[in-house]
Amino acid sequence: MKIQHLIEIQQFKSPEMLENIFQLTDRMEEGELSGNFEGLLLSNHPRKKILASLFYEPSTRTRLSFESAMKRLNGEVLTTEHALQFSSVTKGETLVDTIRVVGSYADLIVLRHYEEGAAKQAAEISPIPIINAGDGCGQHPTQALLDMYTIKKELGRIKNLNVAFVGDLLYGRTVHSLAYLLARQEGIRMYLVSPEQIRMPRDILNYLDEHHILYEETSEIEEWISSIDILYVTRIQKERFRNVFEYQQVEKTYTINNELVSRMKEDARIMHPLPRVGEISMEVDSDPRAAYFKQAQNGLFLRMALLKLLLDAKEE
Ligand code: NCD
Repeated sequence: MKIQHLIEIQQFKSPEMLENIFQLTDRMEEGELSGNFEGLLLSNHPRKKILASLFYEPSTRTRLSFESAMKRLNGEVLTTEHALQFSSVTKGETLVDTIRVVGSYADLIVLRHYEEGAAKQAAEISPIPIINAGDGCGQHPTQALLDMYTIKKELGRIKNLNVAFVGDLLYGRTVHSLAYLLARQEGIRMYLVSPEQIRMPRDILNYLDEHHILYEETSEIEEWISSIDILYVTRIQKERFRNVFEYQQVEKTYTINNELVSRMKEDARIMHPLPRVGEISMEVDSDPRAAYFKQAQNGLFLRMALLKLLLDAKEE
C-alpha cells in the first residue's frame, strides 16, 4: 500500500486499495479461526515492532482493537489512556513535541485528538507513520474502512446501495469518513437524516455533488425506511455542543425500535459505530439485520490488516 500516514479516507483513491485491504482482512479472520498465521504476522527483524497509542479523548473499541490487533500480529504496544490527564500535556507540552518524542520510541502512532486537523499536523512532523483514530469533528478513517468492509461482508457489494445516515451528521466524524468513501462507489443514494441544527457539513455535500451522488437532506425517517439497504445510526455527540441547551434540543430525536425495523427490507442492515446512548433500542439487537456488534468485531481484523500493510510498506 502506497500510503505512509492514514489521515483522511480520501487517501483510499482506487478500488484496488480497498480490495487489497479487504482481502487481507479476510485472511486475518481466517488466521484467527484456523490458528494459522503463516505470512500474516509482522516481521520481527531486527526486533518486534512497537505501536504507540496516544488518545486525548475517550475510546473503548478503537484503542483496544488497535492494541489487540498489534499484539495478535506479534507486535508490542505502548499506551497512554487519557493522555490529556496523565501525560506531559498537563505540563503544557504541545502535540508536535509529543509526537517528535514518541516518534523515537515506537514504529507507528495511533492518535486520537479533540481537535480537527490534529492528525494532519502530527503527520507533518512525525518520523513514523500516524494513523488518525479520530480528530475532533473531522474524520475517523479506520472506522469508515471497517464500516465498508462490514457492508461488503453483509450484503456482498459496496455499490448500488441506498444508505441512510441518521443522527449527528455535523459533529459525527464516522459519518464524515464513510460518506467520503461511499461517494466514490457507483449507484449510491443517500438519505441524510438529522435535526436542522446538525446537518452534514457543506464541504462533504460539495464532495457528494462533485461525485454525482444523489442525496436528500431530511428530518423524517418514515418516508424512506422501506427502501434502504443500510441504516447507519449515530450518537448525538453531546461533548461537541457549545452548551447543554443546544444539546437538549436535539437529543433523543430518533429511536430505532422493532416497530420501525419491521418496515425495513428483509436483507437490509442496521449499523452503528458505537457507543449508543439510546438511539437504537436493545430490543433490536436480536434482529438478524442488526450488524453493529459484528461491525466492532470486524474492526479488529481490519486493523490487523492495516497495521500489517503500513508497517510492512515501511520496511520495503
Ligand atoms: C465513534 C467516535 O469516536 O467517533 N466511536 C468509535 O470510534 N467507534 C462514535 C462516537 O463516539 O459516537
